[in-house]
Amino acid sequence: VKKIAVLTSGGDSQGMNAAVRAVVRSGLYHGLEVFAVQRGYAGLINDDIREMDLRSVGDIIQRGGTILQSARCKEFMTPEGQQLGADNLRKRDIDGIVVIGGDGSYQGANKLSKLGIKTMGLPGTIDNDIPYTDITIGFDTAVSIVVDAINKLRDTMSSHERSSVVEVMGRHCGDIALYAGLASGAETILVPEVPFDLDEIASRMAGNFSQGKRHSIIVVAEGVGKGEDIAAEIMRRNGIEARVTVLGHIQRGGAPTHNDRVLASSLGDFAVRKLIEGDSGKSCGIIKGELVATDIDKVVNSKKQFNMELYELAKRLSQ
Ligand code: F6P
Repeated sequence: VKKIAVLTSGGDSQGMNAAVRAVVRSGLYHGLEVFAVQRGYAGLINDDIREMDLRSVGDIIQRGGTILQSARCKEFMTPEGQQLGADNLRKRDIDGIVVIGGDGSYQGANKLSKLGIKTMGLPGTIDNDIPYTDITIGFDTAVSIVVDAINKLRDTMSSHERSSVVEVMGRHCGDIALYAGLASGAETILVPEVPFDLDEIASRMAGNFSQGKRHSIIVVAEGVGKGEDIAAEIMRRNGIEARVTVLGHIQRGGAPTHNDRVLASSLGDFAVRKLIEGDSGKSCGIIKGELVATDIDKVVNSKKQFNMELYELAKRLSQ
């Protein structure tokens, strides 16, 4: 490849800017011309493409959001939209692209690859729901934000002897709830991957309160349902006053942690090197510290394995 492009797509995540920076600077370092597509696949269709230089990605490694902006683009799901996108790249002789995004973005990347554009996917999502990588770009920061919020909630819940239901993002994946719950010492973690019994949860909580516990933190992954509904069900069973906090998009903003910056930088550079080698249709990830490239086809057709060991550990430690 001689000319490559980069875009960010789907829900943004902290570290996307660091990944864009890595793709641009690594591409330029290797003598490529590098272009940026604005607003994800929508910009590809609308031909919103500009050339980047070293300075275009200055002062962004520490910033949340994405300077390239993002969109969830329905038109790119159609064969006509995909062809138009590929044509807009070809007319500038751009023959490679790095797509930074989650599950939906990968579907689009797969299509571009099948239309002959050399394509690499980078897992950019707070949800950590992409298989064939241990971790996605943004997950570490999102979990840190949730942990910080739970620390604060714990203070006020203890003062009032209440229970706190915290609803977190993650779409169909319970990883944000699991990692943040374990890291913050939550009493209960509800995830879509594991069935649960509200009667058991309510009576355990009542038992804990009668033995002197002054608060109870219940982390609910959004894939399980609404925090409001869970809180009402538990309160109906044990009468302990509950408050609900929905953390929402707070989880997607703010400066990326150093882990996310390092991950994004490594993966961005890896994707460029893979394109230079002539590789295409791959998702770049990290497994046990090793950078790996896996067929996007395989990635979009697999499900991320839930870490039951960690879940059981969180349970054992939250007595
Ligand atoms: O995929 C990231 C994510 O933040 C999910 O956790 C959440 O379900 C969804 O995006 C929210 O989407 P939107 O930003 O479009 O409301």
